[in-house]
Amino acid sequence: MKPIKVGLLGIGTVGSGTFNVLKRNQLEITRRAGRSIEIAMVADLNVERARELTNGECEVVNDANLVVSNPDIDIVIELIGGYGIAKDLVMKAIANGKHVVTANKALLATHGNDIFKAAEEKGVMVAFEAAVAGGIPIIKALREGLTANRIQWIAGIINGTTNFILSEMRDKGLDFATVLKQAQELGYAEADPTFDIEGVDAAHKATIMAAIAYGIPMQFDKAHVEGITKLQASDIRYAEELGYRIKLLGISKRTEAGIELRVHPTLIPEKRLIANVEGAMNAVLVHGDAVGATLYYGKGAGSEPTASAVIADLVDITRLATADPEHRVPYLAFQSNSLSDLPVLPM
Ligand code: HSE
Repeated sequence: MKPIKVGLLGIGTVGSGTFNVLKRNQLEITRRAGRSIEIAMVADLNVERARELTNGECEVVNDANLVVSNPDIDIVIELIGGYGIAKDLVMKAIANGKHVVTANKALLATHGNDIFKAAEEKGVMVAFEAAVAGGIPIIKALREGLTANRIQWIAGIINGTTNFILSEMRDKGLDFATVLKQAQELGYAEADPTFDIEGVDAAHKATIMAAIAYGIPMQFDKAHVEGITKLQASDIRYAEELGYRIKLLGISKRTEAGIELRVHPTLIPEKRLIANVEGAMNAVLVHGDAVGATLYYGKGAGSEPTASAVIADLVDITRLATADPEHRVPYLAFQSNSLSDLPVLPM
């Protein structure tokens, strides 16, 4: 069978990780997908760097429109980030009948309803495992592993940058600005780190998880969002003296009146597993009525951990695109017509 052809938009931290892991584990990935996955085209403004990273193994262009309009491309991976250009390109790719893989949580949390509707109408898939908690397969867990459950609540450390900052401030007594700079150098922070430290990035991810878990449309605008910028070293110290750790949690909770959706610093007793999640690691607790509490832990950011999630989506789409299209809709398509009427509560 001929390879499925992929166009990659943006070959930065995650894009280069995706390229490298696909190449390194080609044999296993091809076996699992049932078909070879080939990155045929890369678009990046820095063509020189892109050529260097791809080593002449695929076509490199500086105009992403050439990728989304190329009839030979089956799947577009969007790793540009942000809402503007990224949204245009994703919508064009869908209109051109391409499946999309994206790690862009900001885009999905704010424009996901339009994107999923367009994809549903066109009969293509949009997959986004990498958008939440990096390498942890939390979307798959919510959508598939816990599918029998009525999800009651989700609480997670879903922003690596802020967890790294809180951990380093506590352990090494470093100041906020120094640790934020380190997080940027390590590639954890967003291009605009305000999104990390003000809790916006965590709220994007909590919005996406809530939409899947409770069968509601994306409603980022209803989330209560509070970051870590008001915390001081003394808050962290006092919490510790009282036997607590401060963690920035993304929380969603089913109540009789509707869904609570919020991000804020939270005091957690230090004996709890989630209180001991350190550095840029992520952890998500999900409580389902049948299964009880489950905990997912791993790297929430970085090149290859995020690439791991991008490639999982590529494999899923490859399998499904190769199978009968009738069978793929309930699996990867997002239900744009909500499954539940529960409102997200004003907070
Ligand atoms: N800035 C994000 C974080 C990257 O720190 O978690 C992964 O989404």
